[in-house]
Amino acid sequence: MSTGAVGRAYPRLEGPEKVTGTARYAVEYPVDGVTYGWAVPSAVVRGRITRIDSTEAMASPGVLAVVHHGNAPRLAAGGPPELWLLQEPAVHYRGQFVAVVVAISLEAAREGARLVRIDYDTGPHSTVLTTDHPGRYRPEHVNPSYPTDTAEGDFDAGYAAAPVRVDATYRTPAYHNNPMEPHATTAQWRDGRLLVHDSTQGASPVRATLAELFALPPEAIRVIAAHVGGGFGSKGYAKASVVLAALAARHVDRPVRLALTRQQLFGPVGYRTPTIQRVRLAADTDGRLTAICHDAISQTSTIREFAEQTAVYTRSMYAAPHRRTTHRLVRLDVPTPFWMRAPGECPGAYALESAMDELATAIGVDPVELRVRNDARVDPDQERQFTSRNLVACLREGARRFDWAGRDPTPRARRDGRWLIGTGVAGSSYPARARASSATATARPDGGFLVRINATDIGTGARTALWQVAADALGVPPERVEIHIGDSDLPAAALAGGSTGTASWSWAVIRACQALGGKLRAGVPPDREVSASADTTDEVGEQPVLPRYAYGAQFAEVRVDADTGEVRLNRMLGVFAAGRVVNPTTARSQLVGGMTMGLSMALHEEGLLDERYGDWVNHDLATYHITGCADVESIEAYWLDERDDELNPAGVKGLGEIGIVGAAAAVANAVHHATGVRIRDLPIRLDKLIGASELA
Ligand code: MOS
Repeated sequence: MSTGAVGRAYPRLEGPEKVTGTARYAVEYPVDGVTYGWAVPSAVVRGRITRIDSTEAMASPGVLAVVHHGNAPRLAAGGPPELWLLQEPAVHYRGQFVAVVVAISLEAAREGARLVRIDYDTGPHSTVLTTDHPGRYRPEHVNPSYPTDTAEGDFDAGYAAAPVRVDATYRTPAYHNNPMEPHATTAQWRDGRLLVHDSTQGASPVRATLAELFALPPEAIRVIAAHVGGGFGSKGYAKASVVLAALAARHVDRPVRLALTRQQLFGPVGYRTPTIQRVRLAADTDGRLTAICHDAISQTSTIREFAEQTAVYTRSMYAAPHRRTTHRLVRLDVPTPFWMRAPGECPGAYALESAMDELATAIGVDPVELRVRNDARVDPDQERQFTSRNLVACLREGARRFDWAGRDPTPRARRDGRWLIGTGVAGSSYPARARASSATATARPDGGFLVRINATDIGTGARTALWQVAADALGVPPERVEIHIGDSDLPAAALAGGSTGTASWSWAVIRACQALGGKLRAGVPPDREVSASADTTDEVGEQPVLPRYAYGAQFAEVRVDADTGEVRLNRMLGVFAAGRVVNPTTARSQLVGGMTMGLSMALHEEGLLDERYGDWVNHDLATYHITGCADVESIEAYWLDERDDELNPAGVKGLGEIGIVGAAAAVANAVHHATGVRIRDLPIRLDKLIGASELA
């Protein structure tokens, strides 16, 4: 039946609308009588608001209201604590939104916000993560529901007995999600019903959270997210913008548009927690691992626990008889950290894949070969065979394409004038999961088909991929298929997160299309519209628990200026095994994007927190550096043909996150190979390199 749409490189369906500016984002819809909200952040870290003086703000031209805890509509308690906004005078972190100014124009709202006077009583605060912090504790589980600690064998004994050992502590700073489109919402109340256009990774979950906070039945709320300008995890959940806009719109009884500013994205919408990670590896002299331990420390806020799964990557990546992983959290007076592209796996892989490089150096074995020797056919964590594991094939294919053979392992061996040149490698893996979703397929009398599902396209190309999947499932050319996504009035579906989108949504789309095919074959009069729906809740729930992962191998070549310590990326290359690839164009952009973000993590990004103010001081794109095109001289992503029948009907593993996993380690390992200097706290900046004796 397949028409071969899956696997073909189609451009994004909405591409023309996006490049001509007609694709509408959350605050771009024309709305009669719309007003503008500007969020006011707390200027203190911890304390209580003692007085809010709105006099000057209200006197400013165009200002309609200053909404704050003293006059805001009430929210139901029991929702996400960080979204219980404008309800109480307490301040839990700097930047917490404490008021919204509503005005007839954006400029008037902004000026009004400047004129709101707020007095606070403040108390002492603590905002810096340290190993021995008194607020350190052991969480009950880690995101999303992994055990906090694991142990097999006897790590201490195994480690002590081994002839080769690595014991290294790696640190990563706070990283901030910076989607092109900020968190933004247009909210409208009509006859007790709430309509929001929101920039989110999942309209269905946003509707559920709004229903909880505003004590409404979900049917009274509609959330539309037709186009979303990126998220990376920060929009995986309802965020402040949608709550503030809905509160403000109810207060002024007019539609309200509210977009967070770029500066306001640095904290209140979630960020990647800083980490402190101690990794200990022990091996025999051939490089076969005998003991692995990964102890991770990260932070959470005082109002909500977010426990990132930093060491989980290490549980399944390489085999060893003696293994242990632990997670500890520190409660700080900070905004709650949250998802950022491969939360857990990304920083965890940086530490483990760096330690593997240190082990390779210590033993004198090639780092590709070291990983091949420690490959696992059976998941060391679940003790079941992986449904497919092509890590070794990725390493081999990557080494071939990268021209790795013949590499001199000696650090500082290659030089070109002032430039020291080095190469590095890292492994990569990410779980392949699917979540329950539902979809409806309709056959029209004119021979066309409509497929409806509340999937979200956050820029990934999901809309196009599902259109291809639907065409093949219906057995018709894709030109005859229309696809509707991004609206909570459509059949409910999982959010775009955890690299689960294509797997989850295509599952429901295929089942709906198959059901429709069954009805059509049963003989329906050609002049009638016919629909069929599917809900994969049971099927997904009944799927056997098996270790399902995508894999990759990341290679990087850097050059480092021996005099200044400047690091430049010559080239980067990744080979991935991620099941079936639906659309090579959009798949490549996900992988290259992930790798670029990993490069950015290795060399550029860093949230610099000033304990005096309890906040990041570099909260804009001028001072928070993100890798730009000029920082990437060559970056290539490839994939293997991989078939895995234990996944989902489309056979996909998902590739939104695998591209970032291991990327930072590959770059860091290349810097070590170039210079002989091992920087264990990211980002690798020139001041850290020129301070190192090896470079002198
Ligand atoms: Mo991704 S961090 O799961 O949205």
